[in-house]
Amino acid sequence: MNKENIESILHEKRIFFPSSEFSAAAHIPSKDNLHKIHSIANRDFEGFWATQAKTELTWHQDFTTVLDRSNPPFYGWFIDGTLNVSFNCIDRHLEAHGEKIAIISERESGEITTLTYRQLYQRVCRFANVLKSQGVSIGDRVIIYLPMISEAIIAMQACARIGAIHSVVFGGFSAQSLKDRIENTRAKLLITADGGYRGGKIVPLKATADIALAKGCPTIEQVIVLKCTNQSITIEQGRDIWWHEAEANAHDKCTPTWVNAEHPLFILYTSGSTGKPKGIQHSSAGYLLGTITTMKWVFDIRQEDIFWCTADVGWITGHSYVAYGPLAAGATIVIYEGAPSFPDGGRFWKICQDHKVSIFYTAPTAIRLFMKMGKEIPESYDLSRLRLLGSVGEPINPEAWIWYHQVIGRERCPIVDTWWQTETGVHMIAPVPGAIPTKPGSCTLPLPGICVAIVDEEGNPVTSPHEGGHLVITQPWPSMVRTIWGDKQSYYDIYWRKFEGKYYLAGDSAHLDEDGYFWILGRDDDILNVAGHRLGTMEIESALVAHPQVAEAAIIGRPDGIKGEAILAYITLKDIEPLDEEKQNLLIQELRIWVSHQIGPIARPDEIKFVDNLPKTRSGKIMRRLLRSISRGEIITQDISTLESESTLAQTPQSKS
Ligand code: WT7
Repeated sequence: MNKENIESILHEKRIFFPSSEFSAAAHIPSKDNLHKIHSIANRDFEGFWATQAKTELTWHQDFTTVLDRSNPPFYGWFIDGTLNVSFNCIDRHLEAHGEKIAIISERESGEITTLTYRQLYQRVCRFANVLKSQGVSIGDRVIIYLPMISEAIIAMQACARIGAIHSVVFGGFSAQSLKDRIENTRAKLLITADGGYRGGKIVPLKATADIALAKGCPTIEQVIVLKCTNQSITIEQGRDIWWHEAEANAHDKCTPTWVNAEHPLFILYTSGSTGKPKGIQHSSAGYLLGTITTMKWVFDIRQEDIFWCTADVGWITGHSYVAYGPLAAGATIVIYEGAPSFPDGGRFWKICQDHKVSIFYTAPTAIRLFMKMGKEIPESYDLSRLRLLGSVGEPINPEAWIWYHQVIGRERCPIVDTWWQTETGVHMIAPVPGAIPTKPGSCTLPLPGICVAIVDEEGNPVTSPHEGGHLVITQPWPSMVRTIWGDKQSYYDIYWRKFEGKYYLAGDSAHLDEDGYFWILGRDDDILNVAGHRLGTMEIESALVAHPQVAEAAIIGRPDGIKGEAILAYITLKDIEPLDEEKQNLLIQELRIWVSHQIGPIARPDEIKFVDNLPKTRSGKIMRRLLRSISRGEIITQDISTLESESTLAQTPQSKS
């Protein structure tokens, strides 16, 4: 084996087939069926996407050009067509499904409200008219800084309706992060709320926004404030207006602004586990098309489904699979404002039970949290309506996958482990659940019309199974990032330069198994170099998580004079009782032997540290980059504004070396 390539060392052999009932009712019911779709896409790539775009989207003016390759890597899709995204998500359902519930919203307090498609239409129209009356027009940027409630979706859809470009900032971000995003987008208007609830406390959104605005942000002319928690806030006359007052006077019809297919729908800053936030710019038509096709292929969405994606609208998942995809597909969605374990660890399962959720989509970090709390909690709820489960955000450790399958899915629901990125817009590699058997820890196979490869440093495909390389996308795809807002050079440098514009570089390492299934090994930056072997983080972490006492694990490399890098493991335990030193030492020995047995002595951690929490981004990704700096005793100079809890920094022990 070429030592310069990454080696895969974990051999997961379990395989799960969808039930015949599931397959029989699915949009894509068999391997043969899926194979046919793939061969159409392989035979005539552009024709395939043209057909999808014509059948799934409602156009104002049809397109004639499918893919514009005149200025790579700045590709354009359906470039001479015009449409409106909000029209596609709302108006076109009104005739047949106007009274169908579009959104079931549960506040942290337990208060529940619903909106039918017709009510959503009226509220979006009214708010679009409010935006217009404040001078917002096509191409203007609007910042949305709201809790996870219906109005966040209304605000996004209203922007889309008038062709304004939104940039949603997650409600947990600081004044500084908000200010950076306002200044980078040069936004004209800010939409926020007095506050929102999380974990029983008020998140003071308006007060934080005031701090951001006091620090700069000269482009902001108006602030629209939603009353959500009723605590007292400061209103600046002439700048701040109340949402409810403005909406009360607004007309409930608003003709959609027809925009070009390539018109930017939104800018979203990436979660930043790898560095400085970048404004990822997405298109209108291609993006929306990707959300609808994946709603069908991967989530197998049907009229009667109740779809709950737990992501906040501050992340791409909350754009593609809350605010746009499910609505474009005419589905009923559930949204929830608060913390997953408020007031207790049963909240998510109570929501699934009460609202009869049939498709549930969450992140591995949440699944590991629930595992830690114990299976007795979900077991006491009626989860019989669930028929499909999904995972996104990080590689899901096989142990967490099996737990999800048994305890939440009751061994009945397929799991779709979806690999994608803010930049890809929608799922790229994911199971088509009625057609593809799944393997715990693998995101399975690329979707139709998505061309993915694993290549070595020279860009040559890695052929032998269990040898890893760079995950690249070899053809443009409709929902792809169009550029980094205001920074074409960085767009090229980050994603295209490595393979000279030929391939899109995802920044993840992966390998294929004998069946051609994809396994994500971790971020390229996190790869370890141990005695000439290049190892991904995912496999060693998964081996540790498989130990009955381990809740979560993060692996990093620490410089080592002999081995190149030594393996350092940060671990959180399921049991919250602290261990005395003797027990800790015994457990360390046991875990080292455990990893040797599970995957081999090469992967055995040299050092193990127990911590209460691992540092994570606000979207739940473990920040190995930060742990690396800490273990090397470096001063932390990197951007930690997206860190979930800065207190984890303080409690992570400094390395003695
Ligand atoms: C990165 C993208 C995708 C939307 C939410 C996160 C990791 C994501 C998986 C998965 C293994 C995954 C990758 C990717 N990732 N999903 N199913 N298996 N890794 O979006 O913040 O842009 O992060 O998340 O490393 O590159 P994002």
